[in-house]
Amino acid sequence: MSIVFLNGDFMPMEDAKISPMDRGFLFGDGIYEVIPSYDAHLIGFAPHIERMNQGLKLIGIDFKWDKTKWSEVCNTLIKKNGAANLGIYLHISRGADSKRFHAYTENVPPTVFAFTFAIPAANLADKSTAKAYKVSTTEDLRWQRCNIKSTALLGNVMHFQHGFSRGYNETILFNSNNEMTEGSACNAYIVKDGVVITPPLDNQILPGITRFMLLDILDKHSDIKVEQRIVKMDELFAADEVWLTSSSKEIAPVVQIDGKPVGDGEIGDLWLAAQTLYSAYKADY
Ligand code: PDD
Repeated sequence: MSIVFLNGDFMPMEDAKISPMDRGFLFGDGIYEVIPSYDAHLIGFAPHIERMNQGLKLIGIDFKWDKTKWSEVCNTLIKKNGAANLGIYLHISRGADSKRFHAYTENVPPTVFAFTFAIPAANLADKSTAKAYKVSTTEDLRWQRCNIKSTALLGNVMHFQHGFSRGYNETILFNSNNEMTEGSACNAYIVKDGVVITPPLDNQILPGITRFMLLDILDKHSDIKVEQRIVKMDELFAADEVWLTSSSKEIAPVVQIDGKPVGDGEIGDLWLAAQTLYSAYKADY
């Protein structure tokens, strides 16, 4: 039975109840995080909490717990739910008002919810066991504040469904200038002539924690060249390798886009090098 955290208490999932007037339910008015944990070790805990606090500030929810408090919640959930490979989901909504009114609430306590879910085992840096992703592409029709990790995910859900309903693992998005933005639930990269290229941080993409860690690891521990710049869609289709990153995927190699092979259609050597480094250093974060 899954044990969850709701507004200060740990309880079985089926006992966790919130009001239908919760603004998270009515408006998607909240912020969330997903932190991976392998064998009870949280990866990227501090940057995840920092991004969450930043998101709360951006949407004007006056709520801040320090890292010690969040660490207690996460580690208690891990203990109560078994220490296997878990995603820890943290969610803060603006709370339950007595009326449905668009303006931000005053004097309403935020709703704080956390639960765990199973994630795949950490990636092995091994081409023979890696999951090779096949993806579709579609125009990015989400809002213009994709840097905020909002719980209002219908745009992402519809884009994910675009690929999923066609038998693909993910969907890579592009804006009206034919520039790659990100995946529906992950950041995206191309590799060309030995250079890793990924779009710069702006309002079109989420500042992924896995992205931050990967770029930092490549910078500190390798000679692999990285460029953060606009990636045109024709560059995506001409890339030697394509990768996706997220907290639950780590670095995912893409071998097919819209039915066409990426490079030679096999998982690339630079993916192997990057995943090897990521596996070696991710616990530093
Ligand atoms: N998704 N971009 C989008 C749109 C995302 O939803 C995610 C993560 C990322 C990668 O961020 P990070 O490396 O911090 O996980 C990029 C999570 C895992 C989800 O919604 O389940």
